[in-house]
Amino acid sequence: MLKEKVMLMWESFIEEKVREIRETVGGGKAIIALSGGVDSSTAAILAHKAIGDKLYAVFVNTGFLRKGEPEFVIKTFRDEFGLNLIYIDAQDRFFEALKGVTDPEQKRKIIGKVFIDVFEEVAKEIDAEFLIQGTIAPDWIESQGKIKSHHNVGGLPERLNLKLIEPLRDLYKDEVREVAKELGLPEKIYNRMPFPGPGLAVRVLGEVTPKKVAIVREANAIVEEEIEKAKLRPWQAFAVLLNVKTVGVQGDIRAYKETIAVRIVESLDGMTANAMNVPWEVLQRIAFRITSEIPQVGRVLYDITNKPPATIEFE
Ligand code: XMP
Repeated sequence: MLKEKVMLMWESFIEEKVREIRETVGGGKAIIALSGGVDSSTAAILAHKAIGDKLYAVFVNTGFLRKGEPEFVIKTFRDEFGLNLIYIDAQDRFFEALKGVTDPEQKRKIIGKVFIDVFEEVAKEIDAEFLIQGTIAPDWIESQGKIKSHHNVGGLPERLNLKLIEPLRDLYKDEVREVAKELGLPEKIYNRMPFPGPGLAVRVLGEVTPKKVAIVREANAIVEEEIEKAKLRPWQAFAVLLNVKTVGVQGDIRAYKETIAVRIVESLDGMTANAMNVPWEVLQRIAFRITSEIPQVGRVLYDITNKPPATIEFE
């Protein structure tokens, strides 16, 4: 009974937002930066329901996405939901802009700037009047006093003279997941772990290169797969490529290889977090797979620090 009531509530929320978006956009055009995360995906589907092909969903491949992510986003949104999806492969631009940069905040700023530049170029071509954004309540509530600057398309509406529409502004993450489910988005999206805007670039410590990102991408996929197989439901589970090499043995030979840290945390909102008490066999399996499937990696560490004092991400 309660479940039905809740579903009805989300159904009417969807109807109301669809009507609002339709009335606001009228005969105009709207754009959205679609990342494939739960917030922007939900906002995009709501807007698509409201205005169909007058919504242009721009999906930028920064080069810092997870394994299989571009293919998955294109398949889901273009092929299955029929969105007007514009795919931009901007990998070279992001890597070029990050050459020689090691400071985490500097990395975030550069990624944010390149992202806005790329998005602006596309937006100008489309000549839209409205920008749909998947902003949720914690995004604006916590926007003061940040420890790390979060990358989104902030500042864009003014720069491009776009009118902002934020249909999810009053919702919290668990509520967005409900709406996403109600909209028929796949579980892989509505139950997705949060993934930072700057992506794998903040999971390669120090300078970001295509080779290093490729290593952390593989390691991250292994962590995600093993967590899923073990049916664990952490807030986040991921791999980080440290900027230290360590010594190991391979046969009789001394090997000098990369080090991967595995971070698996439980949290309600990301503000505080605890390192998860993951079964030893799962950690062992992760370490075994990473060192045997990724030849450049010789050592795997598990981060047992809570937040605070550590943050969830390493950078
Ligand atoms: P920290 O590392 O600050 O992370 O404990 C808290 C939550 O925020 C995510 N995070 C980011 N998300 N852009 C984002 O969109 C960022 O630059 C960024 N930095 C951290 C992190 O993954 C965690 O869920």
